[in-house]
Amino acid sequence: VQGGRDRLRIAIQKSGRLADPARALLTSCGLSWRESRDRLFCYGESLPIDLLLVRDDDIPGLIRDGVCDLGVVGRNVLAEQDIALRRDQGASAFREWRSLGFGGCRLSIAIPETWEWSGAAQLAGLRIATSYPAILGDWLREQGVDAGVVELSGSVEIAPKLGQADAICDLVSSGATLAANQLKPTVTLLESEAVLAGPVKPFEDSRAALAELLLRRLDGVLRMRH
Ligand code: PRP
Ligand code: ZN
Ligand code: MG
Repeated sequence: VQGGRDRLRIAIQKSGRLADPARALLTSCGLSWRESRDRLFCYGESLPIDLLLVRDDDIPGLIRDGVCDLGVVGRNVLAEQDIALRRDQGASAFREWRSLGFGGCRLSIAIPETWEWSGAAQLAGLRIATSYPAILGDWLREQGVDAGVVELSGSVEIAPKLGQADAICDLVSSGATLAANQLKPTVTLLESEAVLAGPVKPFEDSRAALAELLLRRLDGVLRMRH
């Protein structure tokens, strides 16, 4: 799939919590598509706005590389990759354009249920498992706490049971995952929800007018949902 400048390409999650609500929201904005056979690409019919269905963690990089123009992704994923990018390249490549009001969750520190929580200082010298090492690292530094960060790409909640870590830093929505693993949430590092992400700089070709049209419709839909 080639990056065109007369069509807008939006990356959304292929499957997972944000997949259906993201599509429903864009449908409410008057978009409709014809799906490719492999269902990874949806060709915009009502407007020249296409969808690319991908893993959520890939969305910020797709925007940075210009493969996609916009994306619907959790603020948690965007923030994590922005911190890492600013550290490595010294500048942001994407930013939050709108918050979308669904997929709410929090990125929190969770500890074994049997522990008493007395504050961040308690984490000193412990190992904390997470898929968000950049956000956690920044927070630990702000708190002046020296703790080990164990980076895992998934199933973070079983790390304490496996003896891989003492505590975790992960997303909490209903709390069911933590409860099932005898963990409890303590302090929150980030309040997250689905956001529309886009480049830092505005578009300079015909995508600018398309993006503006989409944002206008989106703002209307979000106002009505409120
Ligand atoms: C998140 C998180 C927990 C779960 C918490 O994973 O990593 O596993 O949700 O939700 P709960 O509090 O409602 O139980 P998610 O399934 O969203 O995505 P992932 O596959 O990227 O971990
Ligand atoms: Zn993910
Ligand atoms: Mg999970």
